[in-house]
Amino acid sequence: MKTQVAIVGAGPAGLLLSHLLHLEGVASVVLESRSREEIEATIRAGVLEQGTVDLLEQSGVGERMKREGFVHEGIYLRFAGRSHRIALTELTGRAITVYAQHEVIKDLVAARLAAGGTLLFGVKDAALYDLDSTAPKTRFHWNGKVHEIESDFVAGCDGFHGISRPSIPSRHRHEFTRSYPFGWFGILVEAPPSTDELIYAHHERGFALVSTRSPQIQRLYFQCDPQDEVKNWPDARIWEELHTRLATGEGWTLGEGRIFQKGIIAMRSFVVEPMRYGRLFLAGDAAHIVPPTGAKGLNLAVNDVRVLAEAFGSFYKTKNQALLESYSSTALKRVWRAEHFSWWMTSMLHRFHDDTPFQHRIQLAELDYIVSSRAKAITLAENYVG
Ligand code: FAD
Ligand code: PHB
Repeated sequence: MKTQVAIVGAGPAGLLLSHLLHLEGVASVVLESRSREEIEATIRAGVLEQGTVDLLEQSGVGERMKREGFVHEGIYLRFAGRSHRIALTELTGRAITVYAQHEVIKDLVAARLAAGGTLLFGVKDAALYDLDSTAPKTRFHWNGKVHEIESDFVAGCDGFHGISRPSIPSRHRHEFTRSYPFGWFGILVEAPPSTDELIYAHHERGFALVSTRSPQIQRLYFQCDPQDEVKNWPDARIWEELHTRLATGEGWTLGEGRIFQKGIIAMRSFVVEPMRYGRLFLAGDAAHIVPPTGAKGLNLAVNDVRVLAEAFGSFYKTKNQALLESYSSTALKRVWRAEHFSWWMTSMLHRFHDDTPFQHRIQLAELDYIVSSRAKAITLAENYVG
């Protein structure tokens, strides 16, 4: 097989890149190790920045998101038993949209297939060769046979555990990592929303987050031990923990419902520099990870491929490589802004195992400052909306 851009991974990064390249008149093939059913059912992110929403709309894949997504103009910070609204739109002129990542995936898969795009699901043992030549190769097993794609470029969009990043010789990779001594326990619940906007809660027992998916389904998280196991958390224990961490003296109560999904998520910050080696370009989680406290991961993946699609488009139109040369440094600017914001939100809202009462008070002082200073609230808001 031959194509212009071979794309490894059909997450938001790989699928959106393929879609944007198609609009630029550039051919691509997307290789995905999982099945279409699996990628369309994996529960992950929920918050889209205004810029992400605008790009999806402008590129023609935003119709269902516009209809079914929920525009939120604020979030709540809850600490010391009280809620404080951060008026995102009033402070920044922008809003966020709550629309699940797997719905974005469904919309992108449908758009690619309708346009006759090539998406290969169930690909095994993908491996990259000749990345430092002008004809890189991607070899893989598919439908019981070995296949090879020769392309002009390879886009590594295969997430944190993919094969693209490790295909870069280690002497060309500078990696920056921080892992956190906690994870998130996430649940999906059949219940009406308990709140009109997301609640980020600081509590001495640890962080909790109330998010939503639809008028019938709610998404809740609470900080947990990353080594903990789902089997240790029967429903009653989950509700008790959430009620405790979200308690207020303001007459608010958390609505319960049937829990139909539970999972534990590790928390990590990670960046590789540069996001390119020869003809391989990394995008999304393959190049960087943020803890989910800032809701930035999916939005960063979208920004990477926006920049990358424009660079490929410019290369094929003009044979000029300038935008490809600057891709990594352009993308990394936003990556590091989001790394800082996500680290900051995580540090301010979670309980650390070595926390002293002093650190707890320092966190409260910072939260108090955010809700009493317009300047500080704007700092949070403009980072949050992107
Ligand atoms: P992925 O979504 O990981 O996609 C990579 C794809 O590559 C996968 O489909 C995988 O199967 C495939 N693949 C892997 N290896 C191979 C291989 N060898 N061959 C072929 N295919 C391969 N972000 C936000 O912006 N807002 C949020 O609110 C938010 N909340 C989150 C909540 C949770 C619980 C989690 C876990 C994440 C959250 N994120 C959030 C982060 C967001 O989900 C990720 O940043 C996003 O999925 C990154 O997209 P991606 O396409 O780069 O990678
Ligand atoms: C989600 O709805 O899954 C979600 C929302 C906000 C976050 C992280 C995850 O910060």
